[in-house]
Amino acid sequence: MNFKVKIGNLVLKNPILTASGTFGYGLEFEPFGDLKKLGGIIVKGLSLLPRPGNPGDRIAETPCGMLNSIGLENIGINAFLKEKLPYLPWKHTPIVVNLYGEDLQEFEKLAKILANKEEIGAIEINISCPNVKKGGMQFGQDPSSAARVCEIVKKAAESKTVIVKLSPNVVDIKAIAKAVEDAGADSISLINTIPGMAVNPYTRMPKLTNIIGGLSGPAIKPIALRMVYEVAQTVNIPVIGIGGIASVEDVFEFILVGAHAVEIGSASFTNPKLVFEIIKELPTMAKKLGIRGLNEYRGSLYA
Ligand SMILES: Cc1cc2nc3c(=O)[nH]c(=O)nc-3n(C[C@H](O)[C@H](O)[C@H](O)COP(=O)(O)O)c2cc1C
Repeated sequence: MNFKVKIGNLVLKNPILTASGTFGYGLEFEPFGDLKKLGGIIVKGLSLLPRPGNPGDRIAETPCGMLNSIGLENIGINAFLKEKLPYLPWKHTPIVVNLYGEDLQEFEKLAKILANKEEIGAIEINISCPNVKKGGMQFGQDPSSAARVCEIVKKAAESKTVIVKLSPNVVDIKAIAKAVEDAGADSISLINTIPGMAVNPYTRMPKLTNIIGGLSGPAIKPIALRMVYEVAQTVNIPVIGIGGIASVEDVFEFILVGAHAVEIGSASFTNPKLVFEIIKELPTMAKKLGIRGLNEYRGSLYA
């Protein structure tokens, strides 16, 4: 059975991608499975210069999920291109670089650096990180700012496929989605994490040094499904679903509400082999559903 999907110029051999920040730079997961089998590898969010991220406790487990306040720690774009990218199987699996800029100029510079790198399949613009003071979510909360970032990156990235990753922390996700589609986005991915907090009643301390972090995992899946459903009904570009996906059934739930592909995030922390296992399970699940391909199932929710 054929599970190929097209996202902009990219042809993915299956709809399973790794969510940024939960799969390192890809190479860390080599001991757990064959990276060439993945639909796509989305690497940790990269900035122009290396970032140490936030200090102190940055991860807290919660019922059905986790909070993080990493603050986009990364090695910087140049170190990634030199030290990681050459060793990734880019000829077999598209490598998607998740980008973070503090301002529009940084986004533009990053996109220009990647424009002529044949090893890079696509760019995912992160305008949705809740854990940084500048940039991040602030770009993703207003349709015209989101559109502006998208336009600038799209122009600077030349023919590269551009995916815009949306924040769930907005009143009207459809307005943001429409604005980035009109600004030239090739695809939209959603959702990033939802701000939350956890505290210890005995010590009276917050569990995260940053106090507030981003919630991910199964706890956010119903919110993600609702938003993917709304966005898929609003735009004509492919939508990539993210949020709490932890099984092959979850993957098909997102496709049922209209997603072309999905990203698997926090679930890789619980089981680092999960992405590879889910890919193996796709044909059996399709058989159970009585379908011959994804096209006939996508968006076919009885609603
Ligand atoms: C530890 C951690 C780090 C993350 N780092 C990034 C990042 O660098 N860029 C980004 O766009 N999203 C980042 N995310 C968000 C995930 O890619 C994903 O959107 C979110 O976790 C929801 O999916 P999930 O419920 O499957 O984890 C991070 C999430 C976690 C848990």
